[in-house]
Amino acid sequence: MKKYSVAVVGATGAVGEEILRVLEEVDFPVGKLIPLASARSLGKTVEYRGQEYDVMELTHTVFAEQGIEIALFSAGGSVSKEFAPSAAKAGAVVIDNTSHFRMFPDVPLVVPEVNPEDIALWKNTGIIANPNCSTIQMVQVLKPLDEAFDLVRVDVSTYQATSGAGNSAMEELVRQMQDMLNFKLDECEPKAFPHQIVNNVIPQIDVFTENGFTKEEMKMVNESVKILHKEIEVAATCVRVPTLRGHAESIRLTFECDVTASEVREILAKAPNVVVMDEPSTKTYPMPAMCVDRNETFVGRIREDIFQRNVLHLWIVADNLRVGAATNAVRIAQKWIETKE
Ligand SMILES: NC(=O)c1ccc[n+]([C@@H]2O[C@H](COP(=O)([O-])OP(=O)(O)OC[C@H]3O[C@@H](n4cnc5c(N)ncnc54)[C@H](OP(=O)(O)O)[C@@H]3O)[C@@H](O)[C@H]2O)c1
Repeated sequence: MKKYSVAVVGATGAVGEEILRVLEEVDFPVGKLIPLASARSLGKTVEYRGQEYDVMELTHTVFAEQGIEIALFSAGGSVSKEFAPSAAKAGAVVIDNTSHFRMFPDVPLVVPEVNPEDIALWKNTGIIANPNCSTIQMVQVLKPLDEAFDLVRVDVSTYQATSGAGNSAMEELVRQMQDMLNFKLDECEPKAFPHQIVNNVIPQIDVFTENGFTKEEMKMVNESVKILHKEIEVAATCVRVPTLRGHAESIRLTFECDVTASEVREILAKAPNVVVMDEPSTKTYPMPAMCVDRNETFVGRIREDIFQRNVLHLWIVADNLRVGAATNAVRIAQKWIETKE
């Protein structure tokens, strides 16, 4: 089997570190691994398959110099904007975790369990975009239900972990936990979030747009439509909660047809990458603490609406660094290899 030269751009970050773990776990055909980050990380190493690799500085020429064939980017939108075209020009396929290219009409936005056929469009620009973490777990559940009942509208509220904002954001939560225990919380200065995150929930992720929704909320609206190839209505309220890892979402779905919870349970039990965990009598439902390091989206609290027969409620949880980023990116790379070979 052919092996590939793989660059991980942002290898020292929360998503980059997870990509390295997932590449190892799935036994990805890595011939050569090139971990890239900023000049700040020179002198650092990352671990892959029990071996230490020196982090190299991201430059425009590194992709051609190192013969990179697959470049997994997770170093922020401005970095992708500047460097992803250089990687593509040097012949690499770019799989980008940032929001920068997601809504470009000629760039495919892919969740392999939902719209794998769109990967073929990588040839347009050499770039494939990975959706927002909250969108990925949601569309994995929406797709099979849309096929069965014809989805019309989604109302979703998220409960997003601090790791969604990177390593420094997780550190901020831990620091504030310590400050709270030491009665020093008054001195804490929020940096990663607009307010104190410990002992709090913040109904704002990213900046507000003119329509009153935040950018994060509008990502869930626009990306869902692009991935599902369907003009569904979506209204999102994205909320940051003081957990480290795992995003939860409370979702209300409106369909063209009437639905029952038992039908939905049956369909989701067979859906790719979805695990039904729904047993109220034993207090069984998904929670962030149990989804860490898992690659599936968990669904529970499936129930019919009390008033409208075409409305259903459910609760989903997934590891944002895996399902919402690293696992999705690596699975795109696996499918890209299949498509090519
Ligand atoms: N966290 C999530 O759940 C998640 C999910 C989906 C998508 N994403 C997206 O993935 C990207 C990274 O997120 P993260 O959570 O991993 O952030 P992070 O923990 O802050 O890591 C950022 C990474 O980018 C590197 N970097 C920053 N500026 C750079 C530059 N100018 N040149 C080269 N490398 C640079 C950093 O390297 P240094 O250490 O050298 O600064 C670090 O490796 C973001 O765009 C984010 O929106 C995140």
